[in-house]
Amino acid sequence: MITSAAAAAHPNIAFIKYWGNRDDLLRIPANGSISMNLSGLQTRTIVQFDTSLEEDQLVINGESAGAEALQRVSATLDRIRELADLKTAARVTSENSFPTGTGIASSASAFAALTLAAATALGLGLPEKELSRLARIGSGSASRSIPGGFVEWQAGKDHASSYAVSLAGPEHWDLVDQIVLISREHKAVSSSQGHQLADTSPLQEARVADADRRLGICRQALLERDFPTFAEVVEQDSNLMHSVMMTSSPPLFYWEPGTLEIMNAVREWRQEGLQVCYTVDAGPNVHVLSPAEHAEAVKRKLTALTNVKSILTCTPGGPAWLIEP
Ligand code: DP6
Repeated sequence: MITSAAAAAHPNIAFIKYWGNRDDLLRIPANGSISMNLSGLQTRTIVQFDTSLEEDQLVINGESAGAEALQRVSATLDRIRELADLKTAARVTSENSFPTGTGIASSASAFAALTLAAATALGLGLPEKELSRLARIGSGSASRSIPGGFVEWQAGKDHASSYAVSLAGPEHWDLVDQIVLISREHKAVSSSQGHQLADTSPLQEARVADADRRLGICRQALLERDFPTFAEVVEQDSNLMHSVMMTSSPPLFYWEPGTLEIMNAVREWRQEGLQVCYTVDAGPNVHVLSPAEHAEAVKRKLTALTNVKSILTCTPGGPAWLIEP
């Protein structure tokens, strides 16, 4: 017997970052985070629970996935199976719409889509909060790709209290994220490995202790569409996370020369009066944020820089959604 469902989700860009866990297994983060879903990019996933299967199977972009990825998917499926009181294995088929080899993280959209598809296939009809908690088990940032628009993941202290909620829908603010792709040769240390190093930096404690202040400023700036305040706190938060990364043991350096060139240029353009700021995740690509009316001018300036290979343009995206299998 086969029971199946399909779902899609957007990745998200964090304005206030998640870096380091209180509990690595459950992915209870050291601090709360705030993000925006990225319309235009998506993962589409089909989950088929099939009584004829001996074990879970995972195909990503047409290729059979490795043991590590499969184990992570199975751990999320196990939680969902437990809720449905069922042991049936599943075939999971997932496709990303993002260009491959760009270093755009897909775990957020992947685990959000997986969770919604699996829970729907088993007829669970779970509320958004519960879907967010379950997605979090697969990948912390995936908890933020379940609700729509601008989202806050409340750190919480345990599984029940750690989930994400929407602060405002995608229509609230026409922010544009221009993801500037930087060429790179080495594969970065994964976020999952990075989170485990966060506490080895003497700066992590200070970063976490100050997180509620940054969250408060960012939340209010978002709700008031106050770009100048938003820009300062978003850049500071990104710089703080990278300071922790660079001072971990072993240290993690995600920036490349092109990353720094863009960060410096963006700060200069802001001083000249353009509404623009940057944020950088666990890789060299730079997310350049601006209100829609400034996006064209920002793009022209970005394109003139030497290290800019290509740009992906994203606007605020909605919640994870069901699709036709
Ligand atoms: C730098 O959610 O990818 O993008 O929970 O191990 O899957 P896992 O990590 P992940 O970490 C995201 C880190 C970040 C910041 C952020 O998105 O908040």
